[in-house]
Amino acid sequence: MTFLFNSDARRGAIFADAFARDLPDVAFTIDAAVDPDAVRYLISWTVPDNLARYGNLEILFSIGAGVDQLRLDAVPPNVKIVRMIEEGIVRMMQEYVTLAVLALHRNLPAYLAQQRAGQWRDIPQAQAESRRLGVLGLGQLGQAVLDRLKPFGFPLAGWSRLPRQIEGVTCHHGELGLEEMLATCNILICLLPLTKETRGFLDAGLFAKLPKGAALVHTGRGPQLDHEALVAALDRGHLSAAMIDVTDPEPLPAGHPFWSHPKIILTPHIASVTQPATAARAVIDNIKRHRAGLDPIGLIDRSLGY
Ligand code: GLV
Repeated sequence: MTFLFNSDARRGAIFADAFARDLPDVAFTIDAAVDPDAVRYLISWTVPDNLARYGNLEILFSIGAGVDQLRLDAVPPNVKIVRMIEEGIVRMMQEYVTLAVLALHRNLPAYLAQQRAGQWRDIPQAQAESRRLGVLGLGQLGQAVLDRLKPFGFPLAGWSRLPRQIEGVTCHHGELGLEEMLATCNILICLLPLTKETRGFLDAGLFAKLPKGAALVHTGRGPQLDHEALVAALDRGHLSAAMIDVTDPEPLPAGHPFWSHPKIILTPHIASVTQPATAARAVIDNIKRHRAGLDPIGLIDRSLGY
């Protein structure tokens, strides 16, 4: 019984140590020349072209939190697909969104622009209790981010497809719930998975539903954002600023307006990155769950695409 690691050797070495220690009866390899019939578990970023050769594959693990890069229909229906949920990714996303929310709350994009222009001028500062935050997507990451933001005193809201209840968070769902949340949301945070439904989600129509002066944090996926609509909303002053970690394409081409827009802080898809030591632990725990007849944590529902 073999676990095949289809990613970089540096991370592979950390996984190999963890498997040797905590799951010694599963042979761990990064060698693609392994006997394909022995492969029961595979971890990869994309679906390898030769997936069909692993006739005994039971679980395909995504090495990242998202699975939109995996061609789900290329994976045989009996193979479970599991996305990466591990404490390193969660912690980094909490850090990034906290950084972004505080930067936007404290007018950092405007102060950076003033610094470049040699201007020493204060901007009226809204207090946290009047800055309403809204998180799109209330999965593991969305909930963890809201939890980390609690001590600052921002009124917290969240939106998901299906109803959720989270203590201290006003939860909305469905189309009507989205309108309700947007109408009072001053900093909108997108943590949605990329699916057919969320492609182009952050568009001119959605921005128009936000109050004037609202700001955006985008740590979902690039194709969810209409880049031109964002620039237009910022330029006419409807939105005040944005902190963007994901774009389409990545990297952005030279000359793209996001590079130099004074109201945009851009980072190169670094908000959260799988941490190999904690990821190995999460994968090993999931194999143990699977062997005990339980669903792995992060199991994908193929009909939903996440
Ligand atoms: C990064 O974006 C990931 O999916 O882990």
